[in-house]
Formats: sequence, structure tokens, C-alpha cells
Amino acid sequence: YNWDFSFMDEYGSYFLTGIRMTLEVSLLAVLSGLVLGTLVSFLRMSRLSPLRFVGSSYVEVIRGTPLIVQLFIFNYGLPIFLGFDIGIFTAAYLTLTVNSGAYIAEIMRAGIQAVDKGQMEAARSLGMSRSLAMRQIILPQAFKNVLPALGNEFIVVVKESSILSVVGFAELTYQANTIRGATFITIEPLLIIAGIYFVLIFTMSKLLGIGERRLKASD
Ligand code: ARG
Repeated sequence: YNWDFSFMDEYGSYFLTGIRMTLEVSLLAVLSGLVLGTLVSFLRMSRLSPLRFVGSSYVEVIRGTPLIVQLFIFNYGLPIFLGFDIGIFTAAYLTLTVNSGAYIAEIMRAGIQAVDKGQMEAARSLGMSRSLAMRQIILPQAFKNVLPALGNEFIVVVKESSILSVVGFAELTYQANTIRGATFITIEPLLIIAGIYFVLIFTMSKLLGIGERRLKASD
């Protein structure tokens, strides 16, 4: 086989654009997913059973259907349903947010429930309301506990975001396919993005490991 990486001169910048789009949509989605997931984790732990039902339904439906189906529904269904075009970035970002939010809801629920219940009791006995105690005492401790899991979720989302290429969102995998189509060089662009994903993911997971050890040491 004659390896041909000559496309790099002309198309090298496509990969940079792809990296930027991949990281951008993933970061935005996990940050919004954190807000959404935290709210949903409250629903799941509510004393009111209808709210618990809404929360669990969301988590089960999202985790129980493939990301690519969710993407198709958002990308092709939402514009019809809403009556206006939402654009590819919004569709991709919304899909990843809604998907990640369901996984983050479970991370947050586990993190909140892992905080010793004596913390809530102590806060309540000092006269704090439940919601003040939740915000001031429970959530900060829970947040620290779930940081490694959230970092891991970000890594998962960076990899899952390659699915967005299927609807034409111009992230890294889409860029490789664009080059393949333009040059008829089949395999090399794929090897390049595999290398890029690997370096990104490997770096992030090493950084995450370091951060995790620091958190442990500070306990
Ligand atoms: N690939 C799987 C799917 O299509 C898992 C998605 C995982 N998503 C996440 N945010 N952790 O459903």
C-alpha cells in the first residue's frame, strides 16, 4: 500500500477546525448538561412522586435510546415541530446536552446521596432551611466528590461527539470525511483523526488522574 499523506498541505487546517468544533460543542454540552443534570437529580430525589416520575422518565428514555436516534429526532424533527430552522450547531449542541444531562443526573444523584446525612441534620439543627443547607453544605461537598466522574463524562462526550458528523456537524470526524471525499484518499485521514482523538483523550485522562490524586490528598 502506498501511504499518501500529501493532503496535509492543503487540508491540514481542516483538522484544526475539527478539533476546535469537537472541543467547543463537547465543553458547552457538558456544562449545560451539568445544569440540566443537577436539576433532574433534584427531581429524582424529590418528595413529590410526580416530580420523581418526570425525572426518572427523562433519565430512562435518554439512556435507553441510542444517541444517533436522538440526534436524528432533534436535527430533523425539531425544525418541523418548532416551525423554524434551528441550525446544525444548535441541533448538535442540544442533542449532546440532553443526552449528557441524563448521565450527569445520575452522577449528581450518586454524589449528593454520598454526602453523609449527618451533614444535612447538622445544618438543619443550626436552623438552616433544607434548600439553604442543600446549596451551602451538601452541594459543595457533592460537587467535589463528582468532579472525577464529570471529567470522565467530558471524555466520553468528546468521543461520542463523532456521531454528530452523521448530520453534517463539522467536528473532527466530519472533517476527515470531507477530506476523504475531496481527495479519494480513504484511510489516511482516518488514521490522522484516530491519532488526534487519542492524544486529546489520553491527555485529558492523565490530567484527570492528577486532579483526582490532588483532591484525595487534600481530604
Ligand atoms: N454510545 C451510547 C449511545 O449511543 C452511549 C452514549 C453515552 N453518553 C454519555 N453522555 N455518557 O447511547
